[in-house]
Amino acid sequence: MTTIDTRELRNAFGSFMTGVTVVTAISESGEKVGFTANSFTSVSVEPPLLLVCPSNNLSSFDIFNTCKHFAVNILAEDQKDISNTFASAKGDRFENINWHSDENGCPIIEGSVAHFSCSTYSNIPAGDHILLVGQVNGFATNEKLGLGYAKGGYFSLGMERRAEELTHLLEGVVGGIIEFDNKVLLTATEQGYTLPQIATSTEQGSQKTVRKFLDAQGLDCEIGPVYSVYENLKAQKFTTYYRVSANNGLAGELGEYIDIDKIADLDFVSSDIQSMMQRFVSEKQNGAFRLYVGDNETGNIH
Ligand SMILES: Cc1cc2nc3c(=O)[nH]c(=O)nc-3n(C[C@H](O)[C@H](O)[C@H](O)COP(=O)(O)O)c2cc1C
Repeated sequence: MTTIDTRELRNAFGSFMTGVTVVTAISESGEKVGFTANSFTSVSVEPPLLLVCPSNNLSSFDIFNTCKHFAVNILAEDQKDISNTFASAKGDRFENINWHSDENGCPIIEGSVAHFSCSTYSNIPAGDHILLVGQVNGFATNEKLGLGYAKGGYFSLGMERRAEELTHLLEGVVGGIIEFDNKVLLTATEQGYTLPQIATSTEQGSQKTVRKFLDAQGLDCEIGPVYSVYENLKAQKFTTYYRVSANNGLAGELGEYIDIDKIADLDFVSSDIQSMMQRFVSEKQNGAFRLYVGDNETGNIH
Protein backbone atom coordinates (compact mmCIF):
# COMPACT_ATOMS: atom_id res chain seq x y z
CA MET A 1 0.00 0.00 0.00
CA THR A 2 1.33 3.46 -0.81
CA THR A 3 1.86 5.70 2.19
CA ILE A 4 -0.28 8.77 2.18
CA ASP A 5 1.13 12.14 3.21
CA THR A 6 -1.68 13.52 5.37
CA ARG A 7 -0.70 17.11 4.74
CA GLU A 8 -0.79 16.59 0.98
CA LEU A 9 -4.10 14.78 1.37
CA ARG A 10 -5.60 17.69 3.31
CA ASN A 11 -4.45 20.06 0.57
CA ALA A 12 -5.95 17.84 -2.11
CA PHE A 13 -9.27 17.57 -0.22
CA GLY A 14 -9.17 21.33 0.31
CA SER A 15 -9.01 21.98 -3.43
CA PHE A 16 -12.70 21.05 -3.65
CA MET A 17 -14.64 24.33 -3.62
CA THR A 18 -17.43 24.39 -1.09
CA GLY A 19 -19.76 26.69 0.73
CA VAL A 20 -19.44 27.24 4.47
CA THR A 21 -21.96 26.24 7.14
CA VAL A 22 -22.25 26.52 10.90
CA VAL A 23 -23.74 23.42 12.50
CA THR A 24 -25.43 23.99 15.85
CA ALA A 25 -27.05 21.97 18.61
CA ILE A 26 -28.03 22.28 22.24
CA SER A 27 -26.92 19.96 25.01
CA GLU A 28 -29.28 18.36 27.51
CA SER A 29 -28.19 20.94 30.05
CA GLY A 30 -29.02 23.77 27.63
CA GLU A 31 -25.50 24.64 26.42
CA LYS A 32 -25.48 25.99 22.87
CA VAL A 33 -22.71 24.61 20.65
CA GLY A 34 -21.70 25.22 17.06
CA PHE A 35 -18.82 24.70 14.69
CA THR A 36 -17.91 25.78 11.16
CA ALA A 37 -18.24 22.97 8.64
CA ASN A 38 -17.77 22.66 4.92
CA SER A 39 -18.53 18.93 4.90
CA PHE A 40 -22.23 19.68 4.31
CA THR A 41 -23.94 17.66 1.57
CA SER A 42 -27.54 17.37 0.52
CA VAL A 43 -28.44 13.67 0.46
CA SER A 44 -32.09 12.95 -0.30
CA VAL A 45 -35.33 14.77 -1.08
CA GLU A 46 -37.77 12.02 -0.05
CA PRO A 47 -37.20 11.69 2.80
CA PRO A 48 -35.41 15.07 3.08
CA LEU A 49 -31.91 14.25 4.32
CA LEU A 50 -28.63 16.08 4.62
CA LEU A 51 -25.20 15.21 5.95
CA VAL A 52 -22.41 16.89 7.89
CA CYS A 53 -19.21 15.39 9.28
CA PRO A 54 -18.26 16.48 12.82
CA SER A 55 -14.70 15.59 13.81
CA ASN A 56 -14.04 13.39 16.84
CA ASN A 57 -11.72 16.18 17.98
CA LEU A 58 -14.40 18.83 18.43
CA SER A 59 -14.75 19.97 22.02
CA SER A 60 -18.51 19.67 21.41
CA PHE A 61 -18.20 16.21 19.81
CA ASP A 62 -20.10 14.34 22.55
CA ILE A 63 -23.06 16.67 22.11
CA PHE A 64 -23.19 16.23 18.31
CA ASN A 65 -22.56 12.51 18.64
CA THR A 66 -25.61 12.03 20.87
CA CYS A 67 -27.89 14.89 19.81
CA LYS A 68 -31.48 14.20 18.75
CA HIS A 69 -31.63 17.47 16.85
CA PHE A 70 -29.22 19.82 15.15
CA ALA A 71 -29.37 22.73 12.69
CA VAL A 72 -27.27 23.69 9.68
CA ASN A 73 -26.83 27.36 8.77
CA ILE A 74 -25.44 28.13 5.31
CA LEU A 75 -23.36 31.28 5.67
CA ALA A 76 -23.76 34.30 3.42
CA GLU A 77 -20.77 35.97 1.78
CA ASP A 78 -20.74 38.73 4.40
CA GLN A 79 -20.45 36.22 7.27
CA LYS A 80 -16.73 35.40 7.16
CA ASP A 81 -16.32 36.65 10.69
CA ILE A 82 -18.99 34.21 11.85
CA SER A 83 -17.17 31.42 10.04
CA ASN A 84 -13.93 32.38 11.78
CA THR A 85 -15.67 32.62 15.15
CA PHE A 86 -17.21 29.16 14.84
CA ALA A 87 -13.93 27.68 13.64
CA SER A 88 -11.78 28.91 16.47
CA ALA A 89 -13.29 31.09 19.20
CA LYS A 90 -13.24 29.81 22.75
CA GLY A 91 -16.12 30.52 25.15
CA ASP A 92 -19.60 31.48 24.02
CA ARG A 93 -19.46 31.62 20.21
CA PHE A 94 -23.00 33.00 20.09
CA GLU A 95 -22.23 36.01 22.28
CA ASN A 96 -21.71 38.60 19.54
CA ILE A 97 -24.00 37.32 16.81
CA ASN A 98 -27.73 37.52 16.15
CA TRP A 99 -29.49 34.20 16.46
CA HIS A 100 -32.75 32.64 17.59
CA SER A 101 -33.78 29.12 18.56
CA ASP A 102 -35.65 26.81 16.21
CA GLU A 103 -38.49 24.65 17.49
CA ASN A 104 -35.97 22.08 18.72
CA GLY A 105 -33.98 24.70 20.61
CA CYS A 106 -31.06 24.66 18.13
CA PRO A 107 -29.55 28.09 17.32
CA ILE A 108 -30.39 29.57 13.90
CA ILE A 109 -27.95 32.25 12.79
CA GLU A 110 -29.57 35.37 11.41
CA GLY A 111 -28.43 36.70 8.05
CA SER A 112 -27.45 33.30 6.69
CA VAL A 113 -28.50 32.19 3.19
CA ALA A 114 -30.46 29.17 4.38
CA HIS A 115 -30.98 27.11 7.48
CA PHE A 116 -32.18 23.55 8.03
CA SER A 117 -33.64 22.30 11.31
CA CYS A 118 -33.01 18.57 11.56
CA SER A 119 -33.65 15.54 13.71
CA THR A 120 -30.85 13.02 13.74
CA TYR A 121 -31.62 10.29 11.17
CA SER A 122 -28.40 8.31 11.47
CA ASN A 123 -24.92 8.61 12.87
CA ILE A 124 -22.22 6.55 11.21
CA PRO A 125 -18.64 6.46 12.58
CA ALA A 126 -16.15 7.11 9.76
CA GLY A 127 -12.50 7.28 10.77
CA ASP A 128 -11.77 10.50 12.64
CA HIS A 129 -15.22 11.95 11.86
CA ILE A 130 -18.83 10.80 12.03
CA LEU A 131 -21.36 11.04 9.23
CA LEU A 132 -24.22 12.83 10.92
CA VAL A 133 -27.31 12.49 8.74
CA GLY A 134 -30.22 14.78 9.55
CA GLN A 135 -33.84 14.61 8.51
CA VAL A 136 -35.01 18.11 7.66
CA ASN A 137 -38.03 19.19 9.73
CA GLY A 138 -38.01 22.81 8.66
CA PHE A 139 -35.94 25.15 6.53
CA ALA A 140 -35.82 28.63 5.03
CA THR A 141 -33.74 30.21 2.31
CA ASN A 142 -33.31 33.61 0.63
CA GLU A 143 -31.68 35.26 -2.38
CA LYS A 144 -28.32 36.12 -0.75
CA LEU A 145 -25.12 34.61 -2.15
CA GLY A 146 -23.29 32.02 -0.09
CA LEU A 147 -19.74 32.30 1.20
CA GLY A 148 -17.25 30.17 -0.72
CA TYR A 149 -14.21 28.29 0.52
CA ALA A 150 -11.35 26.65 -1.38
CA LYS A 151 -7.69 25.94 -0.72
CA GLY A 152 -7.79 27.41 2.76
CA GLY A 153 -9.28 30.75 1.69
CA TYR A 154 -12.72 32.27 1.41
CA PHE A 155 -14.08 33.59 -1.84
CA SER A 156 -17.11 35.56 -2.80
CA LEU A 157 -18.94 35.17 -6.09
CA GLY A 158 -20.43 38.62 -5.58
CA MET A 159 -16.97 40.15 -5.36
CA GLU A 160 -15.62 38.21 -8.36
CA ARG A 161 -18.58 39.46 -10.39
CA ARG A 162 -18.22 43.01 -9.12
CA ALA A 163 -14.53 43.07 -10.04
CA GLU A 164 -15.36 42.04 -13.60
CA GLU A 165 -18.30 44.42 -13.82
CA LEU A 166 -16.27 47.42 -12.67
CA THR A 167 -13.67 47.05 -15.42
CA HIS A 168 -16.39 47.77 -17.94
CA LEU A 169 -17.77 50.74 -15.98
CA LEU A 170 -14.94 52.73 -14.42
CA GLU A 171 -11.28 53.51 -14.83
CA GLY A 172 -9.36 51.19 -12.63
CA VAL A 173 -6.28 49.35 -11.58
CA VAL A 174 -5.93 45.59 -11.12
CA GLY A 175 -3.06 43.90 -9.41
CA GLY A 176 -1.94 40.89 -7.51
CA ILE A 177 -0.78 39.88 -4.07
CA ILE A 178 1.71 37.43 -5.54
CA GLU A 179 2.99 34.81 -3.10
CA PHE A 180 5.85 32.40 -3.27
CA ASP A 181 7.30 30.45 -0.36
CA ASN A 182 5.85 32.67 2.38
CA LYS A 183 6.97 35.80 0.59
CA VAL A 184 5.06 38.46 -1.34
CA LEU A 185 6.25 40.19 -4.49
CA LEU A 186 6.50 43.94 -3.85
CA THR A 187 7.68 46.80 -6.02
CA ALA A 188 9.81 49.50 -4.36
CA THR A 189 9.14 53.09 -5.47
CA GLU A 190 10.36 56.44 -4.13
CA GLN A 191 7.02 56.87 -2.35
CA GLY A 192 7.17 53.44 -0.72
CA TYR A 193 6.32 49.87 -1.60
CA THR A 194 3.44 48.94 -3.84
CA LEU A 195 1.95 45.82 -5.40
CA PRO A 196 2.43 44.83 -9.04
CA GLN A 197 -0.55 46.36 -10.80
CA ILE A 198 -1.75 47.74 -14.12
CA ALA A 199 -4.50 50.05 -15.41
CA THR A 200 -7.57 48.34 -16.85
CA SER A 201 -9.25 49.02 -20.14
CA THR A 202 -13.00 48.85 -20.54
CA GLU A 203 -12.72 46.23 -23.28
CA GLN A 204 -11.16 43.55 -21.13
CA GLY A 205 -12.26 41.92 -17.87
CA SER A 206 -10.14 42.34 -14.76
CA GLN A 207 -8.90 38.77 -14.42
CA LYS A 208 -7.83 38.67 -18.06
CA THR A 209 -5.99 41.98 -17.61
CA VAL A 210 -4.01 40.59 -14.67
CA ARG A 211 -3.29 37.37 -16.56
CA LYS A 212 -1.91 39.23 -19.58
CA PHE A 213 0.10 41.59 -17.39
CA LEU A 214 1.76 38.78 -15.41
CA ASP A 215 2.37 36.71 -18.55
CA ALA A 216 4.02 39.71 -20.21
CA GLN A 217 6.32 39.99 -17.17
CA GLY A 218 7.27 36.32 -17.59
CA LEU A 219 5.74 35.21 -14.28
CA ASP A 220 4.77 31.55 -13.97
CA CYS A 221 1.78 31.77 -11.63
CA GLU A 222 -1.84 30.85 -10.90
CA ILE A 223 -4.43 33.54 -10.33
CA GLY A 224 -6.67 32.81 -7.34
CA PRO A 225 -9.71 34.58 -5.91
CA VAL A 226 -10.27 38.32 -5.67
CA TYR A 227 -8.86 39.56 -2.35
CA SER A 228 -10.16 43.10 -2.35
CA VAL A 229 -12.28 45.47 -4.39
CA TYR A 230 -12.05 49.13 -3.51
CA GLU A 231 -14.38 51.58 -5.20
CA ASN A 232 -13.63 55.28 -5.04
CA LEU A 233 -17.04 56.63 -5.86
CA LYS A 234 -16.02 60.30 -5.95
CA ALA A 235 -13.16 59.75 -8.37
CA GLN A 236 -15.12 57.08 -10.30
CA LYS A 237 -12.17 54.73 -10.00
CA PHE A 238 -11.65 51.29 -8.60
CA THR A 239 -8.83 48.99 -7.54
CA THR A 240 -8.99 45.21 -7.43
CA TYR A 241 -6.36 42.80 -6.11
CA TYR A 242 -6.26 39.08 -6.77
CA ARG A 243 -4.44 36.50 -4.73
CA VAL A 244 -1.81 34.99 -6.99
CA SER A 245 0.44 32.05 -6.27
CA ALA A 246 3.74 31.94 -8.15
CA ASN A 247 5.33 28.65 -9.16
CA ASN A 248 8.87 29.96 -8.68
CA GLY A 249 10.63 32.89 -7.06
CA LEU A 250 11.43 34.73 -10.31
CA ALA A 251 10.19 38.30 -10.02
CA GLY A 252 11.12 39.66 -13.48
CA GLU A 253 11.05 43.44 -13.55
CA LEU A 254 8.30 43.58 -10.96
CA GLY A 255 10.37 43.91 -7.81
CA GLU A 256 11.42 41.47 -5.13
CA TYR A 257 9.88 38.80 -2.94
CA ILE A 258 9.78 39.94 0.69
CA ASP A 259 9.16 37.70 3.73
CA ILE A 260 5.60 37.95 4.99
CA ASP A 261 6.94 38.51 8.51
CA LYS A 262 8.72 41.69 7.38
CA ILE A 263 5.78 43.25 5.55
CA ALA A 264 4.10 44.78 8.60
CA ASP A 265 7.12 47.08 9.09
CA LEU A 266 7.23 48.41 5.52
CA ASP A 267 5.93 51.76 4.28
CA PHE A 268 3.51 51.51 1.39
CA VAL A 269 2.60 54.16 -1.16
CA SER A 270 -0.94 54.58 0.16
CA SER A 271 -2.82 53.99 3.36
CA ASP A 272 -5.26 51.72 1.45
CA ILE A 273 -2.48 49.35 0.39
CA GLN A 274 -0.86 49.63 3.81
CA SER A 275 -4.01 48.56 5.64
CA MET A 276 -4.84 45.86 3.11
CA MET A 277 -1.35 44.38 3.47
CA GLN A 278 -1.59 44.53 7.27
CA ARG A 279 -4.83 42.61 7.05
CA PHE A 280 -3.27 40.16 4.60
CA VAL A 281 -0.34 39.50 6.92
CA SER A 282 -2.52 39.02 9.98
CA GLU A 283 -4.88 36.69 8.13
CA LYS A 284 -1.96 34.76 6.73
CA GLN A 285 -0.60 34.36 10.24
CA ASN A 286 -4.00 33.27 11.56
CA GLY A 287 -4.50 30.97 8.58
CA ALA A 288 -7.87 32.39 7.62
CA PHE A 289 -8.71 34.83 4.88
CA ARG A 290 -11.47 37.34 5.03
CA LEU A 291 -12.65 39.39 2.11
CA TYR A 292 -12.93 43.11 1.78
CA VAL A 293 -15.21 45.22 -0.31
CA GLY A 294 -14.99 48.87 0.56
CA ASP A 295 -15.77 52.26 -0.88
CA ASN A 296 -14.66 55.69 0.20
CA GLU A 297 -18.22 56.85 0.89
CA THR A 298 -19.34 54.16 3.26
CA GLY A 299 -16.07 52.45 4.17
CA ASN A 300 -18.05 49.24 4.16
CA ILE A 301 -16.12 46.18 5.12
CA HIS A 302 -18.14 43.15 4.21
C1 LIG B 1 -14.09 26.47 6.32
C2 LIG B 1 -14.01 25.48 7.45
C3 LIG B 1 -14.63 24.25 7.33
C4 LIG B 1 -14.59 23.31 8.38
N1 LIG B 1 -15.25 22.13 8.23
C5 LIG B 1 -15.28 21.25 9.26
C6 LIG B 1 -16.05 20.04 9.17
O1 LIG B 1 -16.70 19.78 8.17
N2 LIG B 1 -16.04 19.21 10.24
C7 LIG B 1 -15.35 19.49 11.38
O2 LIG B 1 -15.41 18.71 12.33
N3 LIG B 1 -14.60 20.62 11.47
C8 LIG B 1 -14.57 21.51 10.46
N4 LIG B 1 -13.86 22.67 10.57
C9 LIG B 1 -13.08 22.92 11.79
C10 LIG B 1 -13.98 23.27 12.96
O3 LIG B 1 -14.82 24.38 12.68
C11 LIG B 1 -13.13 23.59 14.20
O4 LIG B 1 -12.23 22.55 14.38
C12 LIG B 1 -13.98 23.71 15.41
O5 LIG B 1 -14.79 24.86 15.40
C13 LIG B 1 -13.15 23.70 16.66
O6 LIG B 1 -14.05 23.77 17.73
P1 LIG B 1 -13.60 23.44 19.23
O7 LIG B 1 -12.55 24.46 19.57
O8 LIG B 1 -14.87 23.62 20.01
O9 LIG B 1 -13.11 22.03 19.25
C14 LIG B 1 -13.89 23.62 9.55
C15 LIG B 1 -13.24 24.86 9.67
C16 LIG B 1 -13.30 25.78 8.62
C17 LIG B 1 -12.63 27.12 8.76
